Parts: sequence; C-alpha cells; structure tokens
Amino acid sequence: MCGIVGYIGKKEAVTVLLEGLHHLEYRGYDSAGLCVLPSAHSRKRRASVVRSVGKVDALVDLVSKKNVSGFVGIAHTRWATHGRPSVANAHPHSVGNIHVVHNGIIENYQSLREKLIERGCRFRSDTDSEVVAHLIALERVKHDFETSVYRALSKIRGAYALVIVCDDDPDKMIAVKNSSPLVVGVGRDDFIIASDVSAIVQRTKNVLYLNDGEVIVLSRDGEYSVCSLNRLVKRRKPQVIDWSPEQAQKGGYEHFMFKEIFEQPHAVVDALRGRVVISDGLVRLGGLRSVEDRLCQIKRIVIVSCGTSYHAGLVGKYMIEEYAGVSVEVEFASEFRYRKPLVDKHMAVIVISQSGETADTLAAVREAKNKGALTLGIVNAVGSAIARETDAGVYNHAGPEIGVASTKAFTSQLSILVLLTVLLGRGRDMSFVMGQKILTELERIPHLITSILKREKELRVIARAYVKNDAMFFLGRKYHYPIALEGALKIKEIAYVNAQGYASGEMKHGPIALIEDGFPCVFLAPKDSVYEKTLSGMEEVRARGGRIFAVSTVGAKEVSSIADDVFFIPKTLEMLTPLLLVVPLQIFSYHVGVMRGLDVDQPRNLAKSVTVE
Ligand code: G6P
Repeated sequence: MCGIVGYIGKKEAVTVLLEGLHHLEYRGYDSAGLCVLPSAHSRKRRASVVRSVGKVDALVDLVSKKNVSGFVGIAHTRWATHGRPSVANAHPHSVGNIHVVHNGIIENYQSLREKLIERGCRFRSDTDSEVVAHLIALERVKHDFETSVYRALSKIRGAYALVIVCDDDPDKMIAVKNSSPLVVGVGRDDFIIASDVSAIVQRTKNVLYLNDGEVIVLSRDGEYSVCSLNRLVKRRKPQVIDWSPEQAQKGGYEHFMFKEIFEQPHAVVDALRGRVVISDGLVRLGGLRSVEDRLCQIKRIVIVSCGTSYHAGLVGKYMIEEYAGVSVEVEFASEFRYRKPLVDKHMAVIVISQSGETADTLAAVREAKNKGALTLGIVNAVGSAIARETDAGVYNHAGPEIGVASTKAFTSQLSILVLLTVLLGRGRDMSFVMGQKILTELERIPHLITSILKREKELRVIARAYVKNDAMFFLGRKYHYPIALEGALKIKEIAYVNAQGYASGEMKHGPIALIEDGFPCVFLAPKDSVYEKTLSGMEEVRARGGRIFAVSTVGAKEVSSIADDVFFIPKTLEMLTPLLLVVPLQIFSYHVGVMRGLDVDQPRNLAKSVTVE
C-alpha cells in the first residue's frame, strides 16, 4: 500500500527521506509528505511539515522553497484507502506536537473518530490514520511520549505500521508494526526505518525486521529497544541482507507478478478486514451503507467489467444467483456501452475495476447512470474515476498491483463478491446459519491459499512439461468455468500461448475436434456437485490422446487415474473454490512464461490500465 520512511541520526533527515521516497515510487502512490523536527540549536521549536498531491518531485520542489533542516524526520507516499488523494489526506498527520505516518487500515476508526469528536477533537482529513495522531496527542497531555503511544495503541484495532515523532521529545522516534511491513536499517550511528527494504538498501544492508505486535524506540544517540505491545522487552538483532535495490523492490522475488501471487493471502485478509460479523452471520460494507435499503429492493443486477475483472464478475453471478436469489447478468464493458442495454432505476449496475480508470468500464458507468440505475463500484484504486462516478462502492484495499497481468486484485475481487452475496442474501432470505457458514469458511481462505503457495515447486515441475505447447484448452464447469477463462487469459497474457477457456460441457460441441495426441487440456476438477460430469469430459479427452493437467481437491482419487498431471488444492465450500483454484493456474502460467524467457511483468502489447478505447 503506502510507503513509509523515517530517519534519525546525524545526517540531514530531508535528504535521506526524499531519497527513500524516490525508492518507494515504484509501488504507486497519489500524494507524498514529510515532517522534519528542528535540531536542538535551531531557533524553530516546531516541526516542518510539507505535503503535496502527485509525484515525489512535487514534494521535492515544495521542500526546496522552505527551510527544512534537522536530523529526525518521517515521510510517506500515500496510496489512498480512506479519503481521496488530497493535501489534507496526505501524511504525516499532525495533532498538537505529535506527527504520525501510517500504512494499513485502522478497523475501528469510525467509532474512535466519533468518540474523539465528542471529546472536542477537530479532524482535518478523511483518513483513518488521523485518529492515531489524536489518540496519542490526547494521552501526551498527561504522559510521556512512549507511554502515550502505548496507551493509544491499546485502543486501535487493525493492520498498521506507524512511525511517530514528537516535537518536545525530538531525539526519539517510535515505530510499531502490526500486520503491515516495517523494516529498520541499522547504520553505524543512525537508523532509517521503512515499510519496504528498497528504501534502505542503498544506505545500509544491516536490517532488523520487526514482527507483528512489536514496538521499536530509536534514539539519536544510536540506541534502540524493541518491546511487545504490553511493554515486555524483546531481544532483537539486525541481520545482513545482500539484495540489490531492484531485488529489494520485488521483496526478493524475481518478478512483481510472483510477489503479487504470494501477496494473495494478505489481499484476501485486507478485503475482509472489519467487514465480517461472524457472530451475526452478517457483512458490513461501509461504502454501501448509504444505498443498503435500495439494494435490498433491487430485482436485477448487471455486472460490467473487462479482462480479469470480467471473470471475477462471472463468478459473482454464480454466487449471487445461487445464494442471494437475485438475477445477475455479466457483460463486457466494451459491449455494454455501445449496444442498447435494458437498464432502469429498479436495477443495479456493478462495475468491477482494479485500476478504476478503464475507459470502457467508465463509459458503462455513465451509460447506466444516465438510465437511472444504481451504480456500484468494486475498485482497488481509491479516488479513481470509477470510484468517484459510481453512486457507492467497495474498495479492495489490495495495495498497488504492478505486474500487468492481474492476480491479487482478482482474488480480492472474488472475496468482495462473496461479501456482497452475503449482504444481498441476508437482506433477503439467506438464513443466519448459511451467512455464518459462508463467512467462517471465507475467513479460512487466506490460510488455504498459503498452503497452496507453499507447494509452488510442484507446479514448476508440471509447467516444464507444457513449455513447448503453443495451444491449450482450459476447461471447467459451473463455478469453475470463469476460472477456466481466467486460466486461459493468464497464460495467453504472459506466456503467449493460444489458450482458450471453455465450459467443459461445451467440449463436445466443437472444441473436441482439435484434440489429438498430446494436445494439452487443463481441467478444473474439484470434488463438487459437477465432479462426475467433469470426469466424463476428461475421459473424452484421454480417449483421443490429449494430455491432461487436472487441478482437483485432496481426496479426489479418480482424477489421478485419468490425468497425466494433478495438483491438489484443499477442500472448501463449492462457491469459494474459485478463490483457491485460480492460484495454481496463476503459478502455472507464470512458470511457463518464465521458462519461455518472456517478460512476465510487462508482456508485449499490454497495459496495466487501459484508459483509451
Ligand atoms: C487490462 C489489464 C488486465 C485487466 C483489465 C481490466 O487489460 O491488462 O489485467 O484485467 O485491463 O482492468 P481494470 O483495472 O478495469 O480491472
């Protein structure tokens, strides 16, 4: 998500901070800011805070026009999650003599904000982060800096990396990590702290990785101490890393795409964070609150999107129709905008877009709005055109996706569609028991994805057998048909394989004519309500000499006797299986692409965000 840099030591902080921010630019961001505490001999008593919208260079310009000097400072690149990109929403957030930069999401910020407003606090931004600055500043009235931070931390819930400085304790910096990354570079007589090691490696290779629930206090004389949230001292030593700056940006992975595949457990957790109430079998989607009543009356939904987001929409159709009982159509945005779609005010048009800027999808929103439909967005990029123009929506919070082929945004979109299904279903006739069952299993998905990722090497071995194939079928039925389409799209995008996805029942109506000795078919064959039918399809391919790679669920013995290669995924509810099935297909495509020597992060002719027709 956002990027953090902090510096405390003997050098001019502003130089180190701006250099660090430049190294974090690759992650994508919409605004930037920094805060530098005045040095002891300076006549200034308060910190210099500079913030701007846009690129780090705009911040550099602003800083150069001001007299910013000192040896302690914090900086941030913001990728909006709560509140659109603006100077007021940019970090650091300052309240009284406290300055905070934050990555992640404060889950209970709404209730904290209401309480703080009752106590007379004035909020200057729409962010969840500002509550942290207020909480610490309130405590600071009675307590020392460190105690104030600990007392404030006991009130917040969520995922966060925080770095905090205080005007009247200027030789100290406090940082906390909880579910969002934070690394401390330990120099000879200084520290540089960052959310990403790429902001550190050019200064020092000596780094200390904080664990979740750890607080570090850094001082200007080169001392540091690490404690747990309940102030128990931890013994932590730095380690030496030998990553180049480029390797560091990729978190040690060879490609962004691979890194993002591995970020999926986190992306799902972040999509669910603060939105699931298991005890009541309910879902709370803050972005839809204003339209919830209208949503409960909706009789028909059209999901409109492009590419991978379109495939997420297809899975959404299966889920919503089966569990919420609302009729759903899914359409390519490029078609919707030019034909004469039957849209009226009794229906909802849901657009799904990672970037929030896809021209066709945006045009579809405008068309639907003109016709009076309720327009909703499932969007990853906060403040993007689609997020702004839809009536209401849900953000993915998946963090920037850099690899052109979408991976973590897809699993995040599926997670939100599950939430939407439960929201719509519980507003109609879905039982409490069913709501609870779906949500409980959904919360297990990150752990199940992790178990698949741990077996990534099995897929590398399987991929080797398919590297030379220039054509391939991906076949699936019911919930897995959209995943067959997505599997085919992925390998087309990054390995340039002429792959086609089909509903496996359609095989005998044409595609089977292409099956001959060795023709590769990837079957999605989990043990579910259509398992036997899928097995028959596999037999038909085998009878004609085709080569079969099947992705199935643990315990599906029959598959092993038919397929040439099998990868087993864990069992889950049928409607959630797409969240697991897609992961081996992403990894398979990735390896085929890499083995073919291709640029998997930036495939030829493709763009991450297609803002033209
Ligand atoms: C481009 C990207 C795809 C993406 C599609 C839709 O084609 O290469 O990965 O799925 O656009 O993008 P969106 O940002 O609207 O989800």
